[in-house]
Amino acid sequence: MEFALSSEQTLVQENTARFARERLAPSAKAREEAHQIDHALIQEMAEHGLLGVNIPAAYGGSEAGVVAYALALREVAGADASVAVTMAVTNMVSEVIHRFGSSAQKENYIPKLVGGEYFAGAFALSETGAGSDAAGLKTRAQKDGDAWVLNGEKMWITSGDQAGVIVVWARTSDEGTKGISCFLVEGDTPGLSAGKPEEKMGLRASHTVALSLDHVRVSDAQRLGQVGEGFKIAMLALDGGRIGIGAQSCGMAAAALRESVSYAQERQQFKKNLASFQAIQFKLADMATHLEAAWALVLQAAWLKEENQPFSQQAAMAKLYASEKANATVREAVQIFGGYGYTEEFKVARFYRDCRVTQIYEGTSEIQRLVIARALLKQAAQSQGVS
Ligand code: CAA
Repeated sequence: MEFALSSEQTLVQENTARFARERLAPSAKAREEAHQIDHALIQEMAEHGLLGVNIPAAYGGSEAGVVAYALALREVAGADASVAVTMAVTNMVSEVIHRFGSSAQKENYIPKLVGGEYFAGAFALSETGAGSDAAGLKTRAQKDGDAWVLNGEKMWITSGDQAGVIVVWARTSDEGTKGISCFLVEGDTPGLSAGKPEEKMGLRASHTVALSLDHVRVSDAQRLGQVGEGFKIAMLALDGGRIGIGAQSCGMAAAALRESVSYAQERQQFKKNLASFQAIQFKLADMATHLEAAWALVLQAAWLKEENQPFSQQAAMAKLYASEKANATVREAVQIFGGYGYTEEFKVARFYRDCRVTQIYEGTSEIQRLVIARALLKQAAQSQGVS
């Protein structure tokens, strides 16, 4: 069993850590206050190979693999979680097009996503009535000659108002999960409009919008995958996405731990620094232990995906555990900072706000438990010879 990173993975980690430290961390607060990420920064990330980490070089990607992707995303999230989610969804969109797209779709869209020509990609699955119950979506795609006409409303779409291309899930028949298909809709397609960015608790530099599709017309060549295959495409993409949320969670937890260790060594109370109190030492020890365990789960899921082995259950476990423990960690970080942690003067308040959504998006903690439990029960039934 090998725990060491390859030289390529180490290089990705070191380069991304430097980029995150120098180019992201110092300006994260300003981006949060402006509620905006500049396209120039996205292009800089593209130059560093961060927008297509697991995409073949033939399409402009870094071809560095899933473990390298998790390493990179962790570093970015520790500096600016809003930038990390933008990066994550763009990588996810490129990967889904790479896996299910036609040659023309791959050649047309992937280089624009990974090269930073597009600000981002977006993933439009959720609707007001279809969050955890993704199959409850009501957006319709109606065949009209060689085209499809899409009508409906999407909700909670990361970068939905800025994306060059949006993967839109729509109902093509009433056959439940088998009646959903997937389309590539360009951001400037007539009939597509975005609402105002939501005022969120965290991730404020990343836009989250509702999208309205009013007779959006796309050719059949814009269909991604087969008719009726959309739900499976969404589930497979989310399996990979959940590794990313696990990595983001670890990035925020690691940054909160770093800040806490350094503050505990400086801050004096009762004529001693905080770090000399066992109550604080125990908090730091728990934070560090949970982080190591969470990161091991994320790396395991990333490695399985990279090895083309089943990883759905492990990705759900990684996302569940990492997001839960990261939230406990950022909460303890605020506690260690005391009153100062409750102000915007220190980074831990932002980590606390940014981290909360990791237990919600790309499947809530409750949905991860459902995925894990279903897998366990299926394995048990199979071993008992019950189908
Ligand atoms: N891989 C491949 N196929 C899968 C799959 C997977 N991981 N999970 C399910 N399927 C298949 C099943 O095998 C089944 O196929 P058959 O009918 O051929 O057997 C089919 O899909 C239906 O599966 P289920 O019966 O399990 O479907 P369900 O309706 O019970 O839903 C669910 C399952 C796990 C709850 C799913 O709805 C889910 O993941 N919900 C959460 C949605 C989510 O994560 N949304 C996040 C939005 S995107 C986002 O947040 C991005 C962002 O912007 C940051």
